[in-house]
Amino acid sequence: MKVTKAVIPAAGLGTRVLPATKSMPKEMLTIVDKPAIQYIVEEAVNAGITDILIITNRGKGIIEDHFDRSPELEERLLASGKQDVYEQVVSISKLANICFIRQKETKGLGHAVNCAKSFVGNEPFAVLYGDDVIIGEDPACGQLIRAYEKYGKSVVGIKAVPEKDIAKYSSLKVEPLEDNLYHCTDMVEKPKTKEEVLSLYSILGRCVLTPDIFDILDHTPPGAGGEIQLTDAMRTLARTVGMTGVDYTGKRYDMGDKFGILQATVEIALKNPLLGEPFKNYLKELAATL
Ligand code: UTP
Repeated sequence: MKVTKAVIPAAGLGTRVLPATKSMPKEMLTIVDKPAIQYIVEEAVNAGITDILIITNRGKGIIEDHFDRSPELEERLLASGKQDVYEQVVSISKLANICFIRQKETKGLGHAVNCAKSFVGNEPFAVLYGDDVIIGEDPACGQLIRAYEKYGKSVVGIKAVPEKDIAKYSSLKVEPLEDNLYHCTDMVEKPKTKEEVLSLYSILGRCVLTPDIFDILDHTPPGAGGEIQLTDAMRTLARTVGMTGVDYTGKRYDMGDKFGILQATVEIALKNPLLGEPFKNYLKELAATL
């Protein structure tokens, strides 16, 4: 079955990015000239997704505003002859069929994904974590969808992480399948001991899930951090039918982390057609003084 729906959980509290995220959703933090979540929506659209559900919560209404029309602004832009900016602004509201639902309590990523049950229905769907921006020629989400179409199993986007950091992420039991694809048979969220580490491969930012995940989520108790963890539910899929892991191409930026935000800003600015060259010159001058 073709994957046309995507879910973007964006209801987290963003405590690692305080005080910026006290009233500003981390998904709306800017990378050069666009909020992080727009890069994520564009990736999904470039991968063939037509319907997107963004999971929000109290105080995140400006995410909805960003993907809506803005009549006063549009009128002003047209009246002042700024046709190109006008078209840019209008195009954001036409990227996809985007709808929103609130996660009423912040009970974890698994709980957030479970809020998408009626939107998803009985179809496979992509999940793009709202604070993971991935930049690359071939959309990461599309790479996972192709693996789903080939192997028919739920898919996780994976990357090897440094050993010192594995306790912050998940750890996966994988065996090679072909090229950058792996068969995954087990996983653990935030391994606490060396024995719990199954490999240095971790789930980073993307997955494609079959709808049987919802029944599993209904029965998943709170795990690490007292939250309902999506990894705990996916572990059931991995252990029973197995999952496919895709070591996707593209550079991931963690917008839930202050250092990740700085990296995204600098590296994406350097690639910007207008700002890239002057920004590079500025960085070189600055670097010479450090
Ligand atoms: P994170 O654990 O990175 O987000 O969740 P967080 O809770 O905002 O992080 P802290 O507070 O800085 O540690 C990964 C993704 O899942 C979403 C987040 O918005 C993020 O995109 N999420 C997390 C939800 O939608 N609901 C939740 O209850 C938790």
